[in-house]
This record gives sequence, structure tokens and C-alpha cells, in this order.
Amino acid sequence: MVEPLWIAQGTLRLNLLPPMANRHGLVAGATGTGKTVTLQVMAEAFSRIGVPVFAADIKGDLSGISQAGTSNPKIADRVKKLKLGDFAFAGCPVTFWDVFGQEGHPVRATISEMGPLLLGRLLNLNDTQEGVLNLVFKIADDNQLLLLDLKDLQAMLQYVGDHSKEFQTQYGNISAASIGAIQRGLLAVQQQGGDKFFGEPALNLDDLIQTDAQGRGVVNILAADKLYQSPKVYATFLLWLLTSLFEHLPEVGDPEKPKLVFFFDEAHLLFADLPKIIEDQVVQVVRLIRSKGVGVYFVTQNPLDIPETVLGQLGNRVQHALRAFTPADQKAVKAAADTFRTNPKLDVAKAITELEVGEALVSFLDEKGTPGVVERALVLPPHSQIGPITPEQRKQLITNSVVAGVYENAVDRESAYEVLKSRAGVAAPTIPAAGPASPPWWENIPGMSGGGRGRRGDTVVDAMAKSAARAIGSSVGRQIVRGVLGSLLGGSRR
Ligand SMILES: Nc1ncnc2c1ncn2[C@@H]1O[C@H](COP(=O)(O)OP(=O)(O)OP(=O)(O)O)[C@@H](O)[C@H]1O
Ligand SMILES: [Mg+2]
Repeated sequence: MVEPLWIAQGTLRLNLLPPMANRHGLVAGATGTGKTVTLQVMAEAFSRIGVPVFAADIKGDLSGISQAGTSNPKIADRVKKLKLGDFAFAGCPVTFWDVFGQEGHPVRATISEMGPLLLGRLLNLNDTQEGVLNLVFKIADDNQLLLLDLKDLQAMLQYVGDHSKEFQTQYGNISAASIGAIQRGLLAVQQQGGDKFFGEPALNLDDLIQTDAQGRGVVNILAADKLYQSPKVYATFLLWLLTSLFEHLPEVGDPEKPKLVFFFDEAHLLFADLPKIIEDQVVQVVRLIRSKGVGVYFVTQNPLDIPETVLGQLGNRVQHALRAFTPADQKAVKAAADTFRTNPKLDVAKAITELEVGEALVSFLDEKGTPGVVERALVLPPHSQIGPITPEQRKQLITNSVVAGVYENAVDRESAYEVLKSRAGVAAPTIPAAGPASPPWWENIPGMSGGGRGRRGDTVVDAMAKSAARAIGSSVGRQIVRGVLGSLLGGSRR
């Protein structure tokens, strides 16, 4: 059995049990109450038992987890109070990632991997526009045009717009206004730096699931301070990552410890005006990803920020202090209190408003998966540094990382944009005949028959196969990405 993770101390030791860690969790509390440090303490504990972690770092203050801490009066006081005789400072192995490629290794995804549903959300599309975006993806799939980066999608939109009459019988009505709206949305995303995110080499999810030479889990930190300025992009990116992980990882049943633990900081952003259809799918992925050995921990100010259907699945809970100034505050306190299994010795609602910084109401799942009786407890001090590292330290870590050099340079292989450009003036792409009869069209393009490698190990043909598999929508993750297509085509439109 893997040793229990000691996270906090009340009248009892409060242990997060590794076999229960994939039953998800919640860290909540008002600003400045100790959420980030609690996340840090949990992430360190996972890393020590060889579990890789992924966490978005909104304020840059999580980067300190890469360095050994140093003593300060607060830590010394906690060490003494908790009688941590053998307490020693230590940092964790860390890989930094950054969608903008500045504060970490670039993270990219292809347009096709992102899919029309998440893109539709990113672009703020209405139902009609989203329907058109779906058709554009479908037409690209049917014509084996790869959608990798923003200019591929832009070219494809232009193309479909210019040939909308020819596509009408096969695909239905494609309004110029909808095409225009999507194009404008893309331009806005591009101006926010989205062109950096879409493209290749796309993130290989296995690079997030690593251990170091000593068997410690690597803590992947996504620099999110800049990303967070565009909350929609931030939320879409994390949803994409979660659904992609879900698709990528095999079933593992109930592992003795998680394969990966995912921390969603500022989780309220994920659910802020999330369309019901995506919310339902998120609920489903959170439920099912457990069997892939992934634990998801939401970090947020107020538990009410998280839909009840998700909240109900978060078994391991750390509730820091909440304020109770306004009636709305009081309602939140009551709601937070009601989520705990009662402890006759503790007035939970009262305690929530009294907790000190770094103190919390804690309830972890026991070995049977039942929530433990809630305890008022002090969270352990972190072994690593509290607060941000210097830019020099970050640079050093990025240069020496195991993925250094893998993602740094963008690759722009032949895809929809290039193909359409070279075909300019030629008639609309034809719908390929069913069956394996004719050789694939790309055989005729110099250097295209198996030569073009993008994502490590992927040939153009592989990428095609993947893209086609996606269109089928065989898994739940894919339904999220492609789901609207089904409901649109299967519903009133036919
Ligand atoms: N477990 C702990 N051990 C020692 N010090 C702690 C602990 N938890 C919190 N602190 C102290 O409290 C400060 C604030 O904690 P933290 O940054 O985690 O709050 P937060 O809830 O994440 O705030 P915000 O909402 O602003 O992000 C820390 O910088 C640290 O000094
Ligand atoms: Mg914080």
C-alpha cells in the first residue's frame, strides 16, 4: 500500500489516501486564506509518492514549489505547533509550460484537436454560427483538409464561404453572416495571442505524466497569469486539456495511487456562463476520468461557484475561511457547511468564519470511500518555497528541462491553408467516394506520402486517421468536442 498523505493536523492526523485521491477534491476559501499553499502541500505530497501533477499558476506564486523553502517565523511556528521534529525543506521537480511560450515550454493544440464545440465557446458563437462552424469542420474532414492552425481555419472559412452554394445540397445552408461572425471571432482570438496556441508540435500528453530519476512525480506548472487575462481562453484551454487526457489515457480501474492529479485554480471561471450542453459533458468527464486514474481538484473562493453536479463528485475537501458579511456570504457559508458530514463536536458554519490563515475544515475520504467526519485542522507547512521564483531561476529550469527543445520551434506543415492556396481557382473539393478504391489524394503531393512529420511519430496519414476518428465521435471526450454536431444534425435540422 502507498503511504497515506499527511496534509493537515486537527485532533487527528488528516490523511489523503492515495487510492481515494482519484475521487477528486475541492480547496475553497476567501482570498488570502491559504488555498494556494494548501494546493502546494498537496502537490508536494503527490510528487513525493511518484504522482505527476498539473496545475495552472494564476499569480506566479506556485513556481516556488520548484525550490526548497527557507525558514520564516510562520513556518517555524507551525513546525513547532504540529511537532514536526524531522521537518526538512525540499523542492519538487517542475516543468513549466506557457501557452505564449515565454514563462515555460510552449503548449500547442491543433484546431482539429480543439474541435468545433470548444472553439465555438472560445469565439462566443451563437447556435446558428456554431452550426456553421461544425459544417466547416465536416467539410474539411470529408475533403481530408487538415485543420492545424488559425490560418487553416481562416482559409477553410473563406473557401466554404466562397463556395457555399455548391455545398448547400450536401451540407445545408451556410450563411455569409455566420461565416463573417466566425472570422471576426478568429481575428479577436488571434489578437489575444491565440495564433501561438494553435499549431504544431502539439502537446504530447505523455510529457505531462513524468517522474524524475528519484521516482518523484513531476509537477507541471502552467504559467497562467497572462492567459488568465482572457478568461474564456483560459477556461477553454483547461477544458480541452481535461477532455484530451480523458481520451488519451487507458482505463485503470481503481489504482493504488493516481496516474495524474489535476488542479484547476480559479475554477469558477470554468463554469461562468458555460452552456448547459458543455457543462453536462464536463460533469460526465469528471465522473469518468476517475477510472483513468486522474484526480481533479478544483480550487476556488466559494464552493457555490461550482455546479452542484460537479461538487457532489468532489470527495476530498479542504474548506478555508469564508467571510460572512452579506446575506449572500451567509448563504455561501451555510451551503459550504452543509456539504460536510456533521461532527457533533463542531459547529461547522461558525467555524468557517473563524478559521485562521492556513487553517481549514478538512474531510478526506476513508478507505471505504466514505467522507471522513469534518475536522478543524492546521494545514502542514510546505517543504518548498512559498511565493514566486526569480526569472533567472525559471529560465534555468526551462533550459534544463527534459522537454527542452521539443516544443520551442513551431512547425508549419502542409495543411488546409497551403492546399487551398495551391488549389486557388480550382473547383470545390469533391466528396471522397466511400471505400478504399482510390489512392489517397496526398500521395500525389511531393513529399506528402508518409514524409511530413508533425507531432512526434505522427505522419500525415496518422493525423488524417485521427481526424477521421474524431469525426465519428466514438468516445465521450470526443462527444464533447464534436457533440453539438450530433445534436444539430440528429435534431430539428433533418
Ligand atoms: N499551510 C501553511 N503554512 C504556512 N504558511 C501558510 C500556510 N497557508 C497559508 N500560509 C501563509 O498565508 C499566506 C497566504 O496564503 P495563500 O497564498 O495560500 O492564500 P490564497 O487563499 O491562495 O490567496 P489568494 O486567494 O489571494 O490566492 C501565504 O503566503 C503564507 O504566508
Ligand atoms: Mg492563491
